[in-house]
Amino acid sequence: MESIQAIKQRFGIIGNDPKLNRAIEKAIQVAPTDISVLVTGESGVGKESIPKIIHQLSHRKHGKYIAVNCGAIPEGTIDSELFGHEKGAFTGATQTRSGYFEVADGGTIFLDEVGELPLTTQVRLLRVLENGEFIKVGSSKVQKTNVRIVAATNVNMFDAIKKEKFREDLYYRLSTVDINIPPLRERKEDIHLLFRKFSSDFALKYKMPTIKLADDAVPILQKHRWNGNIRQLRNVAEQISVLEQNRTISASTLQGYLPNGSNNLPAVINTSKSESDFSNEREILYKVLFDMKSDLNDLKKLTMELMKNGNVSEVEKDNEGLIQKIYGESQKDNYTEEFEDLEVLAIPEQADEDYHSDIKTQDKYHFAEEIEEEETLSLHDKELELIKKSLERHQGKRKLAAAELGISERTLYRKIKQYDL
Ligand SMILES: Nc1ncnc2c1ncn2[C@@H]1O[C@H](COP(=O)(O)OP(=O)(O)OP(=O)(O)O)[C@@H](O)[C@H]1O
Ligand SMILES: [Mg+2]
Repeated sequence: MESIQAIKQRFGIIGNDPKLNRAIEKAIQVAPTDISVLVTGESGVGKESIPKIIHQLSHRKHGKYIAVNCGAIPEGTIDSELFGHEKGAFTGATQTRSGYFEVADGGTIFLDEVGELPLTTQVRLLRVLENGEFIKVGSSKVQKTNVRIVAATNVNMFDAIKKEKFREDLYYRLSTVDINIPPLRERKEDIHLLFRKFSSDFALKYKMPTIKLADDAVPILQKHRWNGNIRQLRNVAEQISVLEQNRTISASTLQGYLPNGSNNLPAVINTSKSESDFSNEREILYKVLFDMKSDLNDLKKLTMELMKNGNVSEVEKDNEGLIQKIYGESQKDNYTEEFEDLEVLAIPEQADEDYHSDIKTQDKYHFAEEIEEEETLSLHDKELELIKKSLERHQGKRKLAAAELGISERTLYRKIKQYDL
């Protein structure tokens, strides 16, 4: 039997938590049998490795492994997807089609988000589990299959049973062996380890130096609640890796990437609350940045006018609105003094093109403009890349991508339009 360490290495599982080790050990023990396994645990804890381990260590490893996300298939087509259909069974069924249970004969089917299965499909599934029998949609012929089922859920199955959304008999049939993956907050020792691993992966990927947490940031990382578990931790590591210039991450910088700061409050039932808090924070930052940029542009315009004209009071008169916008009411009396202190460069009147090329060589402050342009560009590039990747990861599902990016769906929609994605 392969050791737990070897399995972790083979399947890219990081961590040494005893509860995680126990889950992997259970998977190794149960793999050679045909027993049905139910993998439970919160979203993002790493449930998907378990069915893979079970399949690879079983006598079915040369057979097919099919992972089905039950929550992603529309209710109307799920029976046909799983069990196949006969030609003419419904509008559009132009050909007889085999379902996953037929195709995976001799292999393993992983039913992810099994709690989402409609009740009618649950009845069919129970039958396969009990005697390997199934019937294609629109057929009356009973077929046989030999499939090992591993299911996973992040919902409380007892609640679902109580609400009559899940059949109790099916639950017991599926969960002959229950493998629970603990939430990340219960694997405190693994949190920093995982963060270091993800940071080094992203450093390689983005060809940047690896980020490193300052000593005072480590406890903040460990105390955080990590409602999105490892998926969330990895996203935070990715965001910081891409966005932070200073590669040593202080406690306050890290806090900026965690919803609700560093709090360790009990789970919030409505997670959109914490997301919206975080998105507000980020939106405020964006707003400040864009306001600054707009001020800077106004200032550039004003400086240009001053350089061209050289007459402060005339420029002041012509640009009253602009001056008020930049300096506000309260500063109205002071700005002229500030302007008077400025050394106004005498630029000779020239054709526009000459004028600009001349400025490039003469104006010692011109570098400021170039740097500003570059920074804005790379900020946009980084943001664009993050959005693109997140949308890809979630197959274009904006709700999931927005949650992952920590912004509201509306903001994401705006950005998709802005970047023409
Ligand atoms: N111990 C681990 N070491 C390294 N990466 C991990 C570990 N656990 C999970 N991951 C990574 O975290 C991400 C989320 O894991 P996974 O998809 O298995 O979550 P899940 O439990 O199936 O969540 P959901 O219920 O939302 O589907 C994956 O990219 C996975 O590779
Ligand atoms: Mg999953």
